[in-house]
Amino acid sequence: MCGIVGYVGPRDAPALLLEGLKRLEYRGYDSAGVSITNGGGLETRKAAGKISKLESVMNGSPLHGTVGIGHTRWATHGAPTECNAHPHHDCTNTIAVVHNGIIENASTLKAQLEARGHEFRSETDTEVLAHLIEAEYEDDLEGAVADALRQVEGTYGIAVVSSRDPDKIVAARKGSPLLIGVGEGEYYVASDASAILQYTRQVVYLDDGEVAVLSRNGYQVVDLRERQLQKPVTKIDWDLEQIEKGGFPHFMLKEIFEQPQTIENTMRGRLLLEEGDAKLGGIDLPAEKLLEADQIIITACGTSWHAGLIGEQLIEEFARIPVEVEYASEFRYRNAVVTPKTLAIVISQSGETADTLAALREAKHRGATTIGIVNVVGSTIARDTDCGMYTHAGPEIGVASTKAFTSQVVSLALLTLKLARMRGLSVVKGREIAEALQKLPGQIKQILDRADEIEQLAEEFKRAPNFLYLGRGYNFPTALEGALKLKEISYIHAEGYPAAEMKHGPIALIDEMMPVVFVAPHDSVFEKLVSNVQEVKARRGTVIAITTRDEEALEGKVDYEFRIPETIEALTPVLAAIPLQLLAYYIAVKRGANVDQPRNLAKSVTVE
Ligand code: AGP
Repeated sequence: MCGIVGYVGPRDAPALLLEGLKRLEYRGYDSAGVSITNGGGLETRKAAGKISKLESVMNGSPLHGTVGIGHTRWATHGAPTECNAHPHHDCTNTIAVVHNGIIENASTLKAQLEARGHEFRSETDTEVLAHLIEAEYEDDLEGAVADALRQVEGTYGIAVVSSRDPDKIVAARKGSPLLIGVGEGEYYVASDASAILQYTRQVVYLDDGEVAVLSRNGYQVVDLRERQLQKPVTKIDWDLEQIEKGGFPHFMLKEIFEQPQTIENTMRGRLLLEEGDAKLGGIDLPAEKLLEADQIIITACGTSWHAGLIGEQLIEEFARIPVEVEYASEFRYRNAVVTPKTLAIVISQSGETADTLAALREAKHRGATTIGIVNVVGSTIARDTDCGMYTHAGPEIGVASTKAFTSQVVSLALLTLKLARMRGLSVVKGREIAEALQKLPGQIKQILDRADEIEQLAEEFKRAPNFLYLGRGYNFPTALEGALKLKEISYIHAEGYPAAEMKHGPIALIDEMMPVVFVAPHDSVFEKLVSNVQEVKARRGTVIAITTRDEEALEGKVDYEFRIPETIEALTPVLAAIPLQLLAYYIAVKRGANVDQPRNLAKSVTVE
């Protein structure tokens, strides 16, 4: 949601914080601010809009100091204005707080503080923290923060500085991601490693209920009772180049073109071609635990949920285990049937999505064994699941998920192979799947080599007011994903539907103005899909078809066709997703949309 960065050390903090905020901008970009403590007290600069707005404010009125905090916001409470931008101050302007999360009892605390004479300037829940710390302030900042947080309900990742305790940053976490960066005589706090990667790779992940105190002499981590905690230091294996655009105009296009490599990375060391099986070191559950499982629940949000729908079909077809796919935001409050024989597969690119994290904890609470399929190393969901596998797609900066999706589907295929071979799938069938997986990177490359064809297609449809995406079987979820990509970045209303479901309502939308994208590989349901194409054509709809071979049955019924290579039916979504990602990208670019930071969205939704 929001992005937090902080620094204490010998360097000039304002420039460093600004650099860090630019790297975090994909987390939220509707307003930003920094606060610095120096001999002159506490100074703050804020601006509504993107980091570039804050940068010009800071150029106009420079700050100096070597201790500070910064924040880029995704509004939850209070409009995206300068007044509601973080950091927020207390009454005496000696305490500044930046926050990622939601204070659920903010209005109660605010009323109590106002009754004690505190005056509030913003509409935010966060400002309550500044006044609460002020009210609890006695000897030192960390004591005041701990006392304040014991009264808070909700989620937070916070960083606090004060001119009353100037050479210090106090940070705390409950529900929202936060890590400490360990440098040579300098220390950082950040929502994720991308903000500080150019300075250090040594990080300490904070867990819920932990408070970190950073000063020039070092850092310590305590709990809310200020008891010392020992925390491991982890080395980040990403490099800076991976979070740069690498010559592409947008992170999204770079990430689409990275997929031959990222799929290779997802499978590296895991695909056992000869055995037709998969080796998944991270899923270190006893075999009987996997064999006795009589139900699988897959839970996730957004694009990850679409990958889950494909996982359902893979697991049911090859491993013969019943699967339920649950929206995490629904599952967390539903009285779902979960037993100790339930495996709960939790899918998340960021590993920080609040609804998915809560669904994970609910499944665990009900006795399920939890398996994480996560991209961000060291993220909360990765650390909270019983076991799991990283998708190894590398950092995904573009808000619209692309390479993470295809890596999630390939990860689910590898997990399916492992479960299925344990449950009697033949080595021959296993090899067929393994060989098809191995061919994917090359096949994706073939598709990307013809991206210009999709760009031309986008030119035709850049002004379309609506879109319909249709698919069957494994490719109904692909249609959903295609529609989501277009919605997210071009703001065109689009819907994905099972093709046969169309005649039960959406067919009313069809006319010559409605482009209909059919995901139409030559698979077991192709014949059935042809009749759906005819239904659209009969209503003069414009048909765009993603096909795998010359189809006599489609002659004269398709206005635009894009061919993808053939693979086994279960893996066609990985290939069919690529032209749909490109179509959304090029249409959005041609409409002048901000592709990497679409309006109203954020890369990881860390609040409910
Ligand atoms: C996808 O393009 C979106 N960014 C969004 O739907 C995303 O998939 C969803 O928020 C889940 O995120 P996660 O995979 O990081 O948990």
